[in-house]
Amino acid sequence: MQKKVYFCAEFLKQMEKPVVILAIESSCDDTSSAVIVDGILRSNVIASQKVHEEYGGVVPELASRAHQLNILPVVDTALKRARVTKEDISAVAFTRGPGLLGSLLVGTSFAKGLALSLNVPIIDVNHLQGHVLAHFVEDGTGLKHPTFPFLCLLVSGGNSQIILVESKESKDESAPHLPNFKIIGQTIDDAAGEAFDKCAKVLGLPYPGGPWIDKLAKEGDATKYLFAKPNIAGYDYSFSGLKTSFLYTLRDMLKEHGVETIDELAARVPHLREDMCASLQATVVDILMRKLKKAAKDLGVTQVAVAGGVSANSALRQAFIDYGKKYKWDVFIPPFSFTTDNAAMVCQAGYFKYLDKDFCAIDEVPYAKTTI
Ligand code: KG4
Repeated sequence: MQKKVYFCAEFLKQMEKPVVILAIESSCDDTSSAVIVDGILRSNVIASQKVHEEYGGVVPELASRAHQLNILPVVDTALKRARVTKEDISAVAFTRGPGLLGSLLVGTSFAKGLALSLNVPIIDVNHLQGHVLAHFVEDGTGLKHPTFPFLCLLVSGGNSQIILVESKESKDESAPHLPNFKIIGQTIDDAAGEAFDKCAKVLGLPYPGGPWIDKLAKEGDATKYLFAKPNIAGYDYSFSGLKTSFLYTLRDMLKEHGVETIDELAARVPHLREDMCASLQATVVDILMRKLKKAAKDLGVTQVAVAGGVSANSALRQAFIDYGKKYKWDVFIPPFSFTTDNAAMVCQAGYFKYLDKDFCAIDEVPYAKTTI
């Protein structure tokens, strides 16, 4: 009932003003806020949390506390950089999940409090949809947008999915709307980013290990080690066998050289870490791309995008370019700033939902787990 009253009076009033969406992202260890004005991204501020580095992974309680410290200055900076005031805001979008519950609660509570104080609606955003919709952000750099239908390989620390993104049939094609997301395939165990992070940890590299694998792989021989590749039907992925194969390769080498630690082994085996990283990276990229190629061929889709933290990986980005040329795909690779968690993508999803008048009730709660 409250929602209806809002539509009649406030929404009509808002329609006359520029549409200003303020977004908040706090699903893991990045506090981010962004502003979109009439469809154009005006600011995207990210405060990364360094506090977790010494623990080799994100500590949920520390993440929540850091979000509490960061959120006010981050939102304030996002508004200032966008050259708008809080009174200009048409709606507040926030990441509702999936993510760490404590972290999500900080962003959700802040969004609700701000929206209530300004008497504007709130818009809940699925973080995974946000990653895909990063491809629609108008950031002034001439970012190319996919057309529907397209496939998106969503690869992060928690997900490895092939998603078919389609326009909602009932909607006007010429206007921007939140599309439909259909999972075509997904990992049945670990995510690609998780495999990178866990293997990096075994090699004694800092968290998150993905960027370190990428860096060391540039100096290594990708054909040096052969790791197990999964044999899973359809478009699903599996990375747990690869992880075990990586671990067993190292275990056997430790035994062979009669040493106990990776450092001792690295002193005996030239380019150990570099070659292990290059071989692992090449295997992960091959696994990801083969299934994607199969899905694109079977579904007859030639618009293919990549999203999520692992889309920052240089070998995966190059594979997209190579496959694009070979199979005549139109490929969409996000700028680095949109690969990891950021509020710009949440803002874009929020903007689409605002145009659809798809608002969220004030008593809705965040969720730790959900699908796209
Ligand atoms: O999307 P994201 O920022 O967070 C979520 O999981 O939601 O993704 C983080 C993941 C981590 O596993 C990290 O190691 C991986 O993305 N990652 C990379 C690279 N940069 C980040 N993996 C491989 N190569 C990279 N350059």
